[in-house]
Parts: sequence; C-alpha cells; structure tokens
Amino acid sequence: MKNKPSNIRLGIFGFGCVGQGLYDVLQTIEQAGIEVAPICVKDKEKPRSLPASAFTYNPQDLLQDESITLFAELISDADEAYSIVKQALVAGKTIVSANKKMLATHLPELIKLQQNYNGTLLYEAAVGGSIPIIRTLESYYSSETLQRVSGILNGSSNYILSKMESEGLSYSLALQQAQKLGFAEADPTLDVGGFDTVNKLSLIAAHAFGVTVKPELILRFGIDVVGEEDLEAAATIEARIRLVAFAEVNPFNELNLHVLPTFVPAQRELYHVVNETNGVTIDPVFAGEQFIKGRGAGSHPTGSAVWADVSAAISGYRYAYRKTKIKTIVLNQDKKITIYLRCPGGASLPEAAWENLVKIQETGEATSFTADISVKELQSIQTDLAANHIFIAQIAAEQAVNIALKLKQKAEVAYS
Ligand SMILES: NC(=O)c1ccc[n+]([C@@H]2O[C@H](COP(=O)([O-])OP(=O)(O)OC[C@H]3O[C@@H](n4cnc5c(N)ncnc54)[C@H](OP(=O)(O)O)[C@@H]3O)[C@@H](O)[C@H]2O)c1
Repeated sequence: MKNKPSNIRLGIFGFGCVGQGLYDVLQTIEQAGIEVAPICVKDKEKPRSLPASAFTYNPQDLLQDESITLFAELISDADEAYSIVKQALVAGKTIVSANKKMLATHLPELIKLQQNYNGTLLYEAAVGGSIPIIRTLESYYSSETLQRVSGILNGSSNYILSKMESEGLSYSLALQQAQKLGFAEADPTLDVGGFDTVNKLSLIAAHAFGVTVKPELILRFGIDVVGEEDLEAAATIEARIRLVAFAEVNPFNELNLHVLPTFVPAQRELYHVVNETNGVTIDPVFAGEQFIKGRGAGSHPTGSAVWADVSAAISGYRYAYRKTKIKTIVLNQDKKITIYLRCPGGASLPEAAWENLVKIQETGEATSFTADISVKELQSIQTDLAANHIFIAQIAAEQAVNIALKLKQKAEVAYS
C-alpha cells in the first residue's frame, strides 16, 4: 500500500470492478489521510494488480480488527455482504455498501440496527452508480414533499434498447454487444428482467417517500421480450421505449411503484438518456422538476460514489431516514395504468379485468393491443404473460389513442 499520512484505517471487502475503482480513486487523493488495511477477497488463486500482502481472505481479519471503524463492502455475494454489514453495524461501526440486492432485501432491519447500535450505513453507489440520488433525496429533499421520482437505473437495459433503436440491432445482438463491452453480465437476467431496477426503486422509495417495500411486492416487467416492432411502434408517436422505475404519490398519500418498459415521449428528459447512461427525474411539490443524469455503473464512476460516502462518513454524515419516521404515505397498487401489449404468434391475452381493450395492430407474426388495467391485476397475471412471451409497456392514455391512429395510417399506406 502507498505510504500516506494516515489517521483512519479503511477496511475494504471486494477488489473487483468497484473495489479496484475505489482503490484507484483513493490513490489520487493524497490528503485523504486514509490507510487501506489488507483487502478482503475470496479467490486465493486469482491474479491481482497488487502484491499478495495487500489481501486477506477472512472477513473476520477486518471485522474484528479494533483499529478499523470504517469499512467499504464491495463484494458480489449478497448473503455474505449482509453478514458483513450486519456485523459492522452491531459493533457500532461505519460501513459503505454498493450491494443493492442485499440493501433492498434487508433495509428495514438495517435501519433498525443503525438506530439500536449507533452504527452508520451509507449506499450511494447502489443506486445509479455515480449519480448522487440517495443523498439528494435524503438530505436536500428530506423536508419537502415529493410527488414523483422516475428514472432509468439500469445501464445494460438502456444500452440494449438504445442500440436496437439507433442501429437497428436485434435484441440478441444488442445484448451480446453489451456483454462484450462489460455493461451486461454473462447471465443478464437481473438486468434485463428488471430485478436490478426494482431493488434500486425500493431504496429510492425509502428515502423519497419514507416507505420501505420489499422488492418482490413491486410490479416488475423487464425488456427481455422486446422486439424491433415495439420500438418501431413507439417511433410512430415520437416516443422511445425505456425501462423506467416509477414512484408517484397521489393526493391521498398513496404510493404507486413499478418498474416497466415505458413509452417515453420526446419532451421528457428520460427520452434523451441513451446507451449505458442513467438518469433520474425528481418532482418536488414546490421546487419543480429536476433531472440528474450520469454514469450508472463502471469501476471509476462507482468507486467515486463509494469514496463520496466514505469521506461523508468521516465527516459524521449519516442518513436520518426522516420520511420513514413520518409514515404518512402508504403503498397502494390499485392504480389503473394504460399499457401496450404485443402477443406473438398464436398467443392470446390471459383472462383479466381489462378495460378499454383495443386491438391496434395485427400482422402475421403478432397482435398488439392497448388496455387499462390495475397494477395489482397486472401483477396477478404476470406469470401468464411471461409464459406466453407477451411484451408489455406502459403508455400514457393519450399516447394509446395516438398510436392506434398512427399504426392504422401506416397499415393503410402499406396496403394502398
Ligand atoms: N460493477 C458496477 O458497475 C457496479 C455498480 C454499482 C453497484 N455494484 C455493486 O457492487 C458490488 C460489487 O460489484 P463488482 O462489479 O465490483 O463485482 P465483481 O467485479 O464481480 O467483484 C466482486 C468482488 O467480491 C469479492 N467476493 C465475492 N464473494 C466474496 C466473499 N464471499 N468474500 C470476500 N470477497 C468476495 C470477489 O473476490 P475475488 O476477487 O476473490 O473473486 C471480488 O473481488 C455488487 O454488489 C454490485 O451489485 C456494481
């Protein structure tokens, strides 16, 4: 390790994409006064960019070292991450984590542990990579009512959709390209299935609205069955399909949450978020709409967010979770939304309480509809829709009318 004037020992778990990113950032900050303890990793055989003496393989070497009170948990194993974070908090220590899955799964317990043992947990890097969304919601907007937060929070899905749209690539080619460039994992399910985004939305809901919701209770559809024809349909109404995390409170303090492919019109900021970039729109009651855009993943952007948390923690910063203490807002999934559906081949729509069901296009290969349905009802038929490879996307009611007209006009031109 580089010799620096040091007074704080930092215990890092994980030296992969994010761990290395944090390490690189620390090397550039000469005055940080941070000494990095041996880094905890798992695989003893893996070639490393640092000498063997820079590593340890037993998390307890760090957790039980009394000279370390500040940790960065940057490992890929959510169960082990949970155990590390829990142990640090019970010891009243400070820990920064990037593990959205672990955080979203255990958030209520992790909040309680901080309160009971006076430890600190920060996790900016877990949502939107380098975008300072959690701290903005938690600190700046802790006293203002927010109406809505919506965003593109998964770089892999956004890259795939952007490339299909701008270069006409098929879904599988765009996915392969994303994997080659390191934007998507070998198993892309967590990204393209919307699971990663739902974990991030669950963390946003806690800080923006004070509601802690288990990720599995949030309506979630991914982009894994999107087709070129869906993007073409969106283009006819000057919209783009994006995987959008959406949280909105109605005047009765009821919160609606979902992660859905969405027809985003050209007037919205999210329309212009392309490739692996992430973007979040915040809609406070008084301040008016705001938008933050930036790198949602990657070694240095994410390492930078971890460093921002480490240095904030050194200055004594912790989340107050002010809105979770007020508890005026409750989750309500009864809201009706309008959706676009494309049923491939002989697949037919499952039985459900559809309203305003309109067939908007029929080709030899697929039939498309628009319809209204409640979030709860859509959740109840999710398995049927997935089994039949039916693509769904949220569409605004006025866009639904427009798309029906535009597709009809297009068909008439084609036949004339
Ligand atoms: N990559 C990104 O852009 C990004 C962005 C935001 C958040 N995150 C989150 O950050 C975390 C780390 O992601 P990553 O991309 O850096 O993963 P990664 O490149 O796969 O690296 C994972 C690291 O965790 C270590 N590890 C895994 N299991 C361990 C265990 N049981 N005990 C000790 N060390 C263990 C691995 O050790 P070995 O080196 O020995 O294999 C490796 O160093 C994840 O929670 C991820 O979701 C990542």
